[in-house]
Amino acid sequence: MSKKSKLLAFPSTLSLLTALLVSINTLGQELETGGTLRSAAQAQGFLVGASAELKPLGTDPAYAQTLAREYNVLTAANAMKFEPLRPTRSRFAFADADKILDFAAAHGMKLRGHTLVWHDQLPRWLVDGNFSSDEVSAILREHIETVIGHYRGRVYAWDVVNEAIDDQGGLRQTFWSNMLGSDYIAQAFTLARAADPQATLLYNDYGGEALGVKSEAIYGLLKSLKGRGVPIDGIGLQSHFLLEQPPRMSEVAANIRRLAALGLEIQITELDVRMLMPQNEKKLEDQAQIYRAYLDACLVVANCNTFVTWGFTDKYSWIPQFFPGNGAALPFDQAYRQKPAYHALLQALNNSHRR
Ligand code: G3I
Repeated sequence: MSKKSKLLAFPSTLSLLTALLVSINTLGQELETGGTLRSAAQAQGFLVGASAELKPLGTDPAYAQTLAREYNVLTAANAMKFEPLRPTRSRFAFADADKILDFAAAHGMKLRGHTLVWHDQLPRWLVDGNFSSDEVSAILREHIETVIGHYRGRVYAWDVVNEAIDDQGGLRQTFWSNMLGSDYIAQAFTLARAADPQATLLYNDYGGEALGVKSEAIYGLLKSLKGRGVPIDGIGLQSHFLLEQPPRMSEVAANIRRLAALGLEIQITELDVRMLMPQNEKKLEDQAQIYRAYLDACLVVANCNTFVTWGFTDKYSWIPQFFPGNGAALPFDQAYRQKPAYHALLQALNNSHRR
């Protein structure tokens, strides 16, 4: 090509590009609905995910298809908790959790580990076992070493300690804190790091997303753990929100920023936005705004790299069972139709400039 034709070629390439951009803008809505959360997140180097239950994975084809199409990270909703993994003291039952891992691996998705140390879903043999503190300490060590060891290199991040702070901002009184004292938290992280030095280790809790007594206490805990050299890499903000009382997004943004300033990675780990039923168009639109604003608050902070909802379809949400009269908390409805919240998430991802 001659110099002249090269020069001529430039404006025509430019106008082609402009035309393309204009058509992207005018077709924004179609393009937005044409993509998936997964492809949009991938383009940003971002993880978007959902928690998954084993039962519908095996029985409901739309469940598996939607998960694989829309998400690049999964959390096992129940299968990796203490009770299902430890039917007896001597036996570890990995089969169910392994099936979720296999599904994730088969579809090129990452898997988060949830959760090693929690006061809920503990087996009777443990809580009623009349163990001494030393025995409980040994059981905790064995649990963390065996479970993380089993998944080393295959589970990239762990919710090591879950919900250790109570709603008043104190240390939650639990089986673990009663038996081992407050230092069980540091012990758990130290054991987890030794069991898999590559895994991202998180403290995971609810109700500490905006500013307030609980987020203050969580921030203080993490700052002191970091200060003592305890190997903690990040925080999981569970984010179980109510449509009628959403957190102030300016506070959420400030909280995320201060956690990032501690050098912590931030993961949104269990988002849902429940509403008083019946649902209607206005409520679903308002819900979509919360989903969008929350994802935006994460996307603008480099350390916030993961956005996971607790389930993804209203068909299998935990909400109606735990909060009767509430529901419709997730981005897909009971028939796997994309709700306004879904489109809001997709738009937020497509409009982000992380890369
Ligand atoms: O495993 C038994 C099963 O053997 C039995 O047949 C069945 C009969 O109801 O119950 C099964 O256990 C249930 C378990 O989910 C597995 O389905 C429990 O009753 C039920 O209480 C349990 O609920 C889970 C809850 O954690 C436990 O507190 C929810 O599914 C799960 O979504 C929820 O998840 C938690 C996160 O782990 C931590 N953050 C809060 C979040 C919501 O509560």
